[in-house]
Amino acid sequence: MELDKAISSRKTIRKFQNKNVPDNYLYEIIQSAMLAPSAKNRQPWRFYILDDNQKNDITNMMYDWASENKDIHTSIKGSANQMKTANKAIIIYTPNYHSKNKKTYYKKPDYLSLGAAIENMNLKCFDLGLGCTWLCDTLYIENEINNYLKIDDLEQVSTLIIGYPEEVPERSERFPIDKLLLNDIYKDANKTKNT
Ligand SMILES: Cc1cc2nc3c(=O)[nH]c(=O)nc-3n(C[C@H](O)[C@H](O)[C@H](O)COP(=O)(O)O)c2cc1C
Repeated sequence: MELDKAISSRKTIRKFQNKNVPDNYLYEIIQSAMLAPSAKNRQPWRFYILDDNQKNDITNMMYDWASENKDIHTSIKGSANQMKTANKAIIIYTPNYHSKNKKTYYKKPDYLSLGAAIENMNLKCFDLGLGCTWLCDTLYIENEINNYLKIDDLEQVSTLIIGYPEEVPERSERFPIDKLLLNDIYKDANKTKNT
């Protein structure tokens, strides 16, 4: 698939068909993450592929948290609704060596590397005809999930929920480019051209 098409057509998918995603697709999605650039090639990503029971239990933990914390405004309930219909979910972790080695200066570069890896996963899903949502709402219950999965030395970064799209939404709004460019080189280029 053309890169431009993948970048411009990829959208967050929030409703999924009741259809199985083959395991070899998950393998390909993880391999696409492994090819992302990373600071000092540290490859700070680890992946936990949830089975059906784990996915359901974690979804229920999200609902429970939402009803116990009604005073906190979050989108966790909506994310749980999405996770319920998604066929697969992968939790992305990073090693906790920042805190262990006191190398906190690794932290930002590692998060950037993780973002690159997760975006590769997003694009790979699209390429395979799948849809996904990149979720951070599972972070509200990070400790509960770690206890449940018996993970004690990794930090949760995000969850990717994956399935065949039931509905492809409209493109969500983007800011106009002139709001984003801090110096307007195009304006200056036009000025030079016109004089
Ligand atoms: C770091 C990150 C965290 C996100 N967390 C959530 C989430 O917890 N729940 C959710 O429904 N969508 C989540 N999203 C998806 C965004 O809402 C979505 O990317 C954004 O609205 C733009 O829409 P698009 O992906 O269709 O272009 C997240 C996206 C990113 C990059």
